[in-house]
Amino acid sequence: MLKANDNPFWTSPSGDFAFGFQQVGDAGFLLAIWFNQIPERTIVWSANRNDLVQRGSRVQLTTDGQLILDDQSGTQVWSTINSGGIGAAYAAMLDTGNFVLASQSAANLWQSFDEPTDTMLPTQTLSQGRALIAPYLEKNYSDGRYMFTLQIDGNLLLYTTRYPISTSINFAYWSTQDSLGSGDQVIFNQSGYMYLTARNGTMINHVFSDSVPMQDFYQRATLDYDGVFRHYVYPKTGASNSRNWALAWNTFSFIPSNICVRIEGEEGSGACGYNSFCRLGDDQRPSCQCPPGYTFVDPNDERKGCKQNFVSQECGQPSQGTDGFEFEVMPNTDWPLNDYEYFSSENEDWCRQACLSDCYCAVAIFKNGECWKKRIPLSNGRIDPGLGGTKALIKVRKGNFTAGSCAKKNDRSTLIITGSVLLGNSVFLNVISLLGIYVFFSRMNRQKAKMIPPHNVLPDVNLVSFTYNELETATGGFKEELGSGASGIVYKGLLDNEDTPLVAVKKLYKMVREGEREFRTEVKVIGRTNHKNLVQLLGFCDEGQQRLLVYEYMSNGSLKKFELDAMEEDQIVLADWAYDCFKEEKLDLLVLEDEEAMEDMRRVESFVMIAIWCIQEDPSLRPGMKKVLQMLEGAVQVSIPPDPASFISSI
Ligand SMILES: *[C@@H]1O[C@H](CO)[C@@H](O)[C@H](O)[C@H]1NC(C)=O
Ligand SMILES: *[C@@H]1O[C@H](CO)[C@@H](O)[C@H](O)[C@H]1NC(C)=O
Repeated sequence: MLKANDNPFWTSPSGDFAFGFQQVGDAGFLLAIWFNQIPERTIVWSANRNDLVQRGSRVQLTTDGQLILDDQSGTQVWSTINSGGIGAAYAAMLDTGNFVLASQSAANLWQSFDEPTDTMLPTQTLSQGRALIAPYLEKNYSDGRYMFTLQIDGNLLLYTTRYPISTSINFAYWSTQDSLGSGDQVIFNQSGYMYLTARNGTMINHVFSDSVPMQDFYQRATLDYDGVFRHYVYPKTGASNSRNWALAWNTFSFIPSNICVRIEGEEGSGACGYNSFCRLGDDQRPSCQCPPGYTFVDPNDERKGCKQNFVSQECGQPSQGTDGFEFEVMPNTDWPLNDYEYFSSENEDWCRQACLSDCYCAVAIFKNGECWKKRIPLSNGRIDPGLGGTKALIKVRKGNFTAGSCAKKNDRSTLIITGSVLLGNSVFLNVISLLGIYVFFSRMNRQKAKMIPPHNVLPDVNLVSFTYNELETATGGFKEELGSGASGIVYKGLLDNEDTPLVAVKKLYKMVREGEREFRTEVKVIGRTNHKNLVQLLGFCDEGQQRLLVYEYMSNGSLKKFELDAMEEDQIVLADWAYDCFKEEKLDLLVLEDEEAMEDMRRVESFVMIAIWCIQEDPSLRPGMKKVLQMLEGAVQVSIPPDPASFISSI
């Protein structure tokens, strides 16, 4: 008998797994099975996830051979029910992570592998009619919003559930399409393969097909709270770890590849809650965010959606007219359902007006002359580079909040450039020189990308390699933020250096895949470029997963030497500022005091669009020189460019 008092447990012979009580915050105890040799104590099964028990509860193998969980008051909360009515002679925690009740003759009467919660372990199978149900949140184990199930009709699917009313199925967002109706069981084998087999044992479909050296890793396949089914590996201590996996649960593979776009349906709010949108981060994990003007309903649970943080437009109230509202623009964003009115062959201005003058309209989506009006609650929201050209115009009350705006704030930072390139006398000349610099950059980038830089040296570039500690000290623990965005956050720092004591330190978000190589390439290219209009790159830090760039800091004082519109610090990042102004249709701010330019804003817009195409972080999006010339000459139409930095957040 085990009591939920002092966390006693039974371990498997190897010690890898344990069965017993696990405390869940202050909420109570789970009767659970967990990985017992890793610090995380990851739970892989539990008996009472929807019904936590308190101190004084106990689990026991009764004299008639049933395993029973009683709560503190002695009420039975859970028990094994073995159909044959044969009592178990003993219970055992096995090294596979399976907890079994066996008869005198060692026949399995009951096993935890047959009643999975959210996780499968190697050697475990899922038979027809069984399912994994995602937990509600990462550390809240109650039944959540997603299900992985092999139906009795032989189909293997990922479903949303009718949360919070029930865990019955809603609609599928992943399936083994080409094996309709023929699946008999799902096998997760010790090499890390998970596959669906037919009744005769032949394999029909893979779920995961990456091989793992089983002696070196712990493995599990878990349907996470975010609806993604992930195959995780954890290096065992002392095992060979040739790929330098972190001593943590590393995602080995997962389905579906982009849940933000895979979940789409009239039923329910999508991968995120109502009025929010889903974004796949650098780490390929989805997160839910609120559009400008909206805040989370429950800050502790981003999946509950967002609400307007302003008083919405009232219908039939003249005082609530169009003047009080404006738009925040989100590129590559859509709520694909919820439209109640659609127009084609109209321009964006028209689309804006149509939404402004309609009290029901919360968001207008504009794409290539097409305009959709949407009402709240918005559902199935997503931001995705695949939506290139789709612009979401979010209607918000004027002056009610301070979200990013072109004139004041930049929310991305790519290359740091002073404003003087664009802000001189002739916008045309200047846009072209900006273009020139970037075409030069992109060519350099393409060439350099072919070289693999040697470790820790950057030849013929005069750059200082800082340690992370040095930069942490210089920035006072990354305290004063100058700007933030898709690729990283820029902080103000102070170096122990007479020439350039003030620096801007750009801390890049964690990168995956090609990150290492690209980082070094970027450092090299920027390091070699010495242009009066570019802020000088002084150094970098490349330590473990940390990637930082250190630039000369352009204080207001040093900008004055270019004799520059009381420029805001944020405008230092010219590329970002220019893109923001373009996005928000405030290009006039770019060419203030240039009358020639002001008179031909169409051309300014077209040139700025071309420049933005040329500074795409994703080299494959940049046009060739011939195309650039054709666009400048007006021979081909310039299409609307995506956010230049969107690539960074998706690599
Ligand atoms: C988990 O979330 C559910 C749904 O919001 C809630 O009812 C329950 O109390 C939570 N459990 C814990 C342990 O916080
Ligand atoms: C697991 O399945 C894969 C694919 O069928 C197979 O190649 C591999 O040998 C299996 N591993 C074990 C340990 O059975």
